[in-house]
Amino acid sequence: MQWRFLMYVVVGASGNTGSVVANQLLAQGKKVRIIGRNAAHLQPLSAKGADIVLADVSDAAELVQAFQNGESAYVMIPPDPARVDVRDFQGRVTDAIAMAVEKSGIKNVVALSSIGADQKSGTGPVVGLYELEQKLNRIQNVNVLSLRAGYFMENALAQIGAIKMMGSAIGPLRPDLKLAMIAARDIGVAAANALLRLEFRGKQTQELHGQRDLDYTEATRIIAQAIAKPDLKYIQGSRDQLRKAMVQMGMSDNFAGLILEMSDALNSGHMKPLEARSARNTTPTSFETFVAESFVPAYQHQQAA
Ligand SMILES: NC(=O)c1ccc[n+]([C@@H]2O[C@H](COP(=O)([O-])OP(=O)(O)OC[C@H]3O[C@@H](n4cnc5c(N)ncnc54)[C@H](OP(=O)(O)O)[C@@H]3O)[C@@H](O)[C@H]2O)c1
Repeated sequence: MQWRFLMYVVVGASGNTGSVVANQLLAQGKKVRIIGRNAAHLQPLSAKGADIVLADVSDAAELVQAFQNGESAYVMIPPDPARVDVRDFQGRVTDAIAMAVEKSGIKNVVALSSIGADQKSGTGPVVGLYELEQKLNRIQNVNVLSLRAGYFMENALAQIGAIKMMGSAIGPLRPDLKLAMIAARDIGVAAANALLRLEFRGKQTQELHGQRDLDYTEATRIIAQAIAKPDLKYIQGSRDQLRKAMVQMGMSDNFAGLILEMSDALNSGHMKPLEARSARNTTPTSFETFVAESFVPAYQHQQAA
């Protein structure tokens, strides 16, 4: 009956994907250790039986300690858009994760990666995910599944501010660029299922494409209908205009530059899915559902504020 005591370690457990991973594992009666910086954010999972360990994911010593006695782990690089040097932070996080995996002797790792993580440069923040995959893949005696997720539907939440300020949706992506758009919760479910089934061996990648490909023109049409603004349109903004807007929103100039680099990579096809869409990489949540359940409440909340 040793399986009862196998422990799962979840990094970023209060986040979009990590919270879903932890909830799914707890719902199956598993022993779960949740890692984050803020105990209050982790409290809802602790109330369901998870053990909290406070650790900074860029601190190797803290993370090694946090992974002790773990059997399987969900790992990810937390975004930190205000960082002056984002790539340096990502480097420290990926070093710390790799060291924690190696030193703890954990056996199975599901890592949150991205479409485009096959490229070693020119993809903005996704270069950090390329490095995460590489560092994990170099560790012996651990099974690693890198989930290369598509474009998060949650990115569209940034349009709430744009709609309020400019009366249109705006971004760096081509209006007709088809994206494998995925709801973060579908990634969490896929990661939890992978950890529960443990069917991956050695070093593997798997793409997650969301429910269907859609472009910002269609996405904006769906949002327009849901918020009763039938004339709402999407505009591809200029680099200078967008960089300035991102910095005004609180991003460092460094991070804004990386986002623009990633957008160029998506627009040019440098960053694209490698797998054809299939039942295996298609996930259930549609953009319509995301808009009804997440976008509209957030939009209404901001309108009321
Ligand atoms: N956006 C996209 O389109 C896209 C596509 C593919 C892949 N990705 C990748 O997805 C990841 C983001 O996933 P997500 O949305 O689940 O993240 P998220 O919601 O921002 O969650 C990050 C979590 O990490 C915790 N955290 C932040 N800084 C930390 C630190 N220094 N030490 C320990 N914990 C820390 C946060 O909790 P506290 O603040 O409470 O500590 C939070 O729970 C990124 O690596 C991104 O590159 C994104």
